[in-house]
Amino acid sequence: MPPSSKFAGVDFTQLPVEHFTPDLTISGQGFRCLRGEFVTYWRQGRIQREINARISQCWILRYKDNLAGYITLLADKLEVDRPILLDEGVQYRSFPAIKIGLLAVDQRAKGAGRRLVEWAVEYVAAEVSPTVGVRFMTVDALYDPDTIPPYDASGFYEKFGFQFTDPNESLPPSVPYRTMYLDLKPLIDLLSIPDIEPSED
Ligand SMILES: CC(C)(COP(=O)(O)OP(=O)(O)OC[C@H]1O[C@@H](n2cnc3c(N)ncnc32)[C@H](O)[C@@H]1OP(=O)(O)O)[C@@H](O)C(=O)NCCC(=O)NCCS
Repeated sequence: MPPSSKFAGVDFTQLPVEHFTPDLTISGQGFRCLRGEFVTYWRQGRIQREINARISQCWILRYKDNLAGYITLLADKLEVDRPILLDEGVQYRSFPAIKIGLLAVDQRAKGAGRRLVEWAVEYVAAEVSPTVGVRFMTVDALYDPDTIPPYDASGFYEKFGFQFTDPNESLPPSVPYRTMYLDLKPLIDLLSIPDIEPSED
């Protein structure tokens, strides 16, 4: 990263992830993403339209007035071809989930993608799952066969433990993405262990 980069030296793990609400004004001017369509989604209002229609919520990372990245979350249904919770006595093949809809970071903001995904996973486990039954997170990981090599975002999500809903899917997939899911239960369990009170003696 050149020293002049506007994100030089920024530690994204230390920056707050902010809910993108009407009182938060950020233009996204100068936002550069290695997939240009994600710049367009921001600039041409797709994200704002989805928020206005209440079909997604968006969170952002910014440094000073510069947009470093954004992530949208929405309700989803995970569908799998096998009953993956049989050992818990649950025979269903579809489950409540929260989906990562759009995720993009400025290509100069290294580490911003990790920050947004780790924040989202913890947010859903800690804040959503106690009030709404939600066991999984899902994502349609972008796969573009028309670049050399093919652009495949799934490797990024694998870093966080996401698995393919269809591990045997042949490539290129029939749609421009590969659906993945993450089981939140281990984190939910960890977060619900009550703090141990200090002993009186
Ligand atoms: C995918 C994206 C959000 C990742 O963000 P990022 O800030 O580059 O990711 P980070 O720097 O936090 O990287 C975290 C780790 O994932 C790895 N990684 C990033 N993209 C990867 C990919 N496509 N395949 C495999 N690994 C990847 C990084 O090397 C890093 O690995 P490390 O922790 O072992 O060093 C970003 O590249 C992006 O905006 N891409 C264009 C839009 C897009 O594809 N969005 C996802 C659509 S589903």
